[in-house]
Formats: sequence, C-alpha cells, structure tokens
Amino acid sequence: MSERKESTWIPLLVPDMPSPQELLPWLERMHKARQYSNFGPLVQELETEFSVQFDVPKEQLVTVANATLALELVLQALDLSSGSRILLPAFTFVATATAVIRAGHQPVLADVDASTWMLTPEIARAACERMRIDAVLPVATFGMPHDMQAWQEFERDTGLPVVIDAAAAYGSQSLQNAEGTLVFSLHTTKSLPSGEGGLVISTRPNLANKVRQLSNFGINLNSSASVPSGFLVAPGTNAKMSEYHAAVGLASLKKWEIYASKRRELQGDLIRKINLISDHTLSWQAEGSGGPLKAPTLLCAKLPNMAARHALEQACQRGNVMTRRWYQPLLHHMDALQHRCLSLAVPNAEALTQTVLGLPFFTGMSQNQCQRIIDVITDAVKAQD
Ligand SMILES: Cc1ncc(COP(=O)(O)O)c(C=O)c1O
Repeated sequence: MSERKESTWIPLLVPDMPSPQELLPWLERMHKARQYSNFGPLVQELETEFSVQFDVPKEQLVTVANATLALELVLQALDLSSGSRILLPAFTFVATATAVIRAGHQPVLADVDASTWMLTPEIARAACERMRIDAVLPVATFGMPHDMQAWQEFERDTGLPVVIDAAAAYGSQSLQNAEGTLVFSLHTTKSLPSGEGGLVISTRPNLANKVRQLSNFGINLNSSASVPSGFLVAPGTNAKMSEYHAAVGLASLKKWEIYASKRRELQGDLIRKINLISDHTLSWQAEGSGGPLKAPTLLCAKLPNMAARHALEQACQRGNVMTRRWYQPLLHHMDALQHRCLSLAVPNAEALTQTVLGLPFFTGMSQNQCQRIIDVITDAVKAQD
C-alpha cells in the first residue's frame, strides 16, 4: 500500500475568515457609531456593496441573519395560501425543506438532472403536469449556478413564483439579466463568509422590502403605509443581520476575489490529478446552461457505484482523510421529514446518494495534504480493479 497515514486528520473544510487584525477597523467603526444592530451603518454599507456587485438597486436586496430564515421569509412574503405545495429537489440540504415547512407549506420533492445534479425547469414542468404545484424552489447544488433566463421563462409560462436557493453560490449565481429571486448564505463555510448571514436579491416588486420588514418582527418600516409606523403589519421574526456580522462580511469582501481564484485553481488542480490517477473512474458535477462555478466551496466526487464509494470512504478513514456524504440521506429518507413531504420519483437523486462523496477542500491545503488525498484515492481505485 502506498497510502501515507499521518496522525493528523485532513479536515473537510477550513473557512476563509478574516483575521482579527483585518476585522479591527470595521469593529472600531461600529463601536464609534455605538450601533450594533437594527440596520446600522455597516449593514447599509454591505448592502450598497451587494447592490454594486449584483447591479441591482438597493430596494431589490436585503441582508438577513442566515439563508434558512431568508428562505422562510421570502416564502412568507410571497403570500401564498397556507399549505401551498413547494417543489424542491430531493437532493439538497435539509434547510431548503425546513424553511418550507416553517413557512406553513408542503415540500414536494422532485428529481435532479443526472449530470448537473440540479432541479431544472424541464423537471419542474413535468412535475406540474403530474400534480398541483404552487411555487418552485430550485437549489444551486454545491454552488453551481442556474440558468436564470430559463427560470424566468418558466415563471412567465406557468405563473408560478420561483425562488433560487443559491445558499452556496455567492459569486457564481447572478440574475444574468433576467428577473428572479436569489437567496444566498454568508455562513462561515461559504465563499463570502460573514460568520452567519443571508442575502436576498429579488426583482419582484416590493419583495425585498417585505422581507426586510418581516426580518424586523414584521413591524411597519414604511412611513407612508396605511398601518401607523411602529405597528405590526405581519407576524415576522427577528432575522436582522447584526453589525458584527456585517463587519465580517465587509472584511471578507476585500479578499473575496483572491480566495475565489484560489478556490478555482485548487479545484481544477485536484480534479486534474484525481482524473489522472483514477483514469476517470471518479466523475464530477457538470456545468449547466447557467455557466461556470466561479467560487467552489466543496469538492464532491461521484463514484461508479456504491461499493466503490464505500471502498474510498474506508481508505480515507484509514488514511485520516475526512469525507462527508453531503446532502444525504435524501430528504424523504429522514423520519422528521418523511411525513411532511410529498415525493415524486427521484431515480437520479437516489443514484447520487449512493455514489457521491465530499472530499477535503480548502484554500490553505498543503502539498503534503494534497498528496495524501491523491495517495488514498489511488489505493482505493487499485483495490477496486
Ligand atoms: C442548499 C442550502 N440551503 C440553505 C442552507 C442554509 O444556509 P444558512 O446556514 O445560511 O442558514 C444551506 C447551508 O449550507 C444550503 O446548503
């Protein structure tokens, strides 16, 4: 066996967070202003930066405490009738479904495309022919961007609202000159970390404003509304982004470009090396018509079958290389969700949960760590021959 076992585990991911020194100027500004939350100056500055990055007016975006609450509040702001059926992929993180349930609706689980691993407009159209669907919540799987022109067409043809759960897709997903609604996570594991945080971008009239209001308990923030200022308009929650988190987000933005290019380079390098030693036994998520993944945050390989994945997991375990079965088990295989979801046939999603494995991926990965991963994969592939 050529496998090099070292006592230290290679972690799955290591966040690219700003250092205390990088944070200090922002924290000093916050402390000087004596404002620590409630749409303070740093949150406003971060929102101005996003408005430039995404080329949308500030009224079309809002920061929130995290993407899970952002999804829940966007669904609430859509004013769908209670118990609406929301189509989402069976292959996603649990938060996509829990947000739907907490907003008072029912998740309907759909299949994903076998190569992009995403719920596409074609899959959504087929689902709509099978049953009543009231809104669609596609996921930018592992940060892969959706084709927003295609989803805009879907919205126009069907009249159904579409909200993209782009939690892991900051820097990769944009509106692409289309109309639409995007929800990003700014969690510490994502490409633009603010510690915890979320961002909603929507061209839907007034949607971002409604989410802002709901994130502040639902208290009226609009002085010209019929409800007096300070009165409750709708039962919201507290999902405001704090000034502390905005400080981290602003400091992270300064380095985003550098980290995104390191992430692209590292992913390309690892995939090239793994393809070479495995003779393309492992395959990868394909780019769709939404364009390339510009700031990858994970590295997920697809093995030819369940046995091969098991062998790789075992080899990684022996070699102290961390792995994770991301987005698994499928939502309807979890007891807490099973009875709350409707599920269509999901053969591609089922196949992915038997074969996809997350490998370590972080920008500070050393040559030695990289080589250990390659060695472990080489051994696992050889053992399968
Ligand atoms: C697809 C998806 N949706 C939602 C979330 C939740 O994001 P947050 O941690 O900001 O609430 C995640 C988190 O990883 C995710 O992967």
